[in-house]
Parts: sequence; structure tokens; C-alpha cells
Amino acid sequence: MKPLTIALTKGRLEKKTVELFERAGMDCTDVKSPGRRLIVPLDGGKYQVVLAKAPDVITYVERGVVDIGVVGRDTILEQGQSFYEVLDLGFGACRFMLAVPNGVDFFNTYKRRRVATKYPNVAAQYFAERGMDVELIKIEGSVELSPLLGLADGIVDLVETGETLRANGLREIEEIAKISARVIVNTASMRTRKAEIKALLENIKL
Ligand code: PRP
Repeated sequence: MKPLTIALTKGRLEKKTVELFERAGMDCTDVKSPGRRLIVPLDGGKYQVVLAKAPDVITYVERGVVDIGVVGRDTILEQGQSFYEVLDLGFGACRFMLAVPNGVDFFNTYKRRRVATKYPNVAAQYFAERGMDVELIKIEGSVELSPLLGLADGIVDLVETGETLRANGLREIEEIAKISARVIVNTASMRTRKAEIKALLENIKL
């Protein structure tokens, strides 16, 4: 049978996950030096690891081309969830916040507000729940720039230390969701390869 395939989100989460695998006693030699390879063996070929961008990790898990994924809850909330979310790994901790320039009273105005974000689905749901009609502007990165340029009245973005907000004269006004890295599992794999998946999860939970 094919080894269990795990998709890791490239970058910070990948590094933290590999540390976790190492602490669980797995041989991570190939995953730590993949070179240009995108699929690498883990623990002597018992598993294989795919390195991908966060939204693609979800796509691969949903479509069953990988069994397991490690991805931030931010991408899960933005992109939907037809898979099982089985474990909160704790690292990659940050939060979705609504932030505005210092001195701006975001809520007490009749004007239609404009909000910039990389996460339009998360933002749309948040404002819909509050019954607020807000114009959302999709931005691909450094969302904090938008209010500085006069493009938006506020932003919905990830905040970790709050340093980027402070350095740009912005302040948090409401927390929308807490974020951390999650393990997700394809629904069919959960049935057909339950014992192997359970063993892996038990191993990394320690
Ligand atoms: C994230 C996020 C904030 C920043 C928050 O950006 O979008 O900009 O980190 O971190 P802080 O609260 O510790 O300052 P990232 O570095 O992922 O780049 P991006 O803005 O291009 O998405």
C-alpha cells in the first residue's frame, strides 16, 4: 500500500511540524533537506511528505490526493472544511483582528465603511453576523498599508505580536477568531486508514 501522505504548509508551519516529528523519533533527514523535491520520504519511507501552500494543502486533503494536512486555522476558516479537523498543534498561534487607524471610531458612523483584507470570506461572515454593510477590498499582502494609503477605513488581518499594527499607527478593535496550526484528515482516509492515522496522531501528540 502507498505510504500515508502528509501535506505540510511550506515555511514556518513546516519547520514547527518537522520539529514535532523529530521529537516523536521520526527520521526527518529528507524533509529537512528536500532540495527541489516536492514529495519526500519521512521516517525511512513509512510516510511521504508533500510541501505546498496553505490553500493547496486543503485542496489536496479535500480531494483525497493526500491523507493528512497541516494548515493554519486562518486558511481553514477562509476556504471551507469538507474534511476532519483532528488536532490543534498549538503553534502558529495568532488571531484574526479588526484593526483601524488610531483615533478612528469605526462603529459609530453612518458612512459605509471600506475594509481591506486577504481573507474576504472570514471578513464577510464577521460583518454579516454584526449586520454591518461593509465594502470589502481584497489585498494580497501587507494589508496594513491600505488605511495608510486611504484605500480603507480598517483591515481584517492576522495579528501575532501586534508589532506591525503599532508601527503603522493602527490599533486592534475586535478579535474575530483565534488561530493556530491544525491537523486535517481526508474523510475517506479516516475510514480506510484509521489505525495508521490514529497511531501517527498518538505519536505526535506526546
Ligand atoms: C502577517 C500578518 C501581519 C503580520 C502580523 O503577515 O498579515 O501583517 O504578519 O505580525 P505581527 O503582529 O507579529 O506584527 P505576513 O508576514 O504573513 O505577510 P503578509 O502581510 O504579506 O501576509
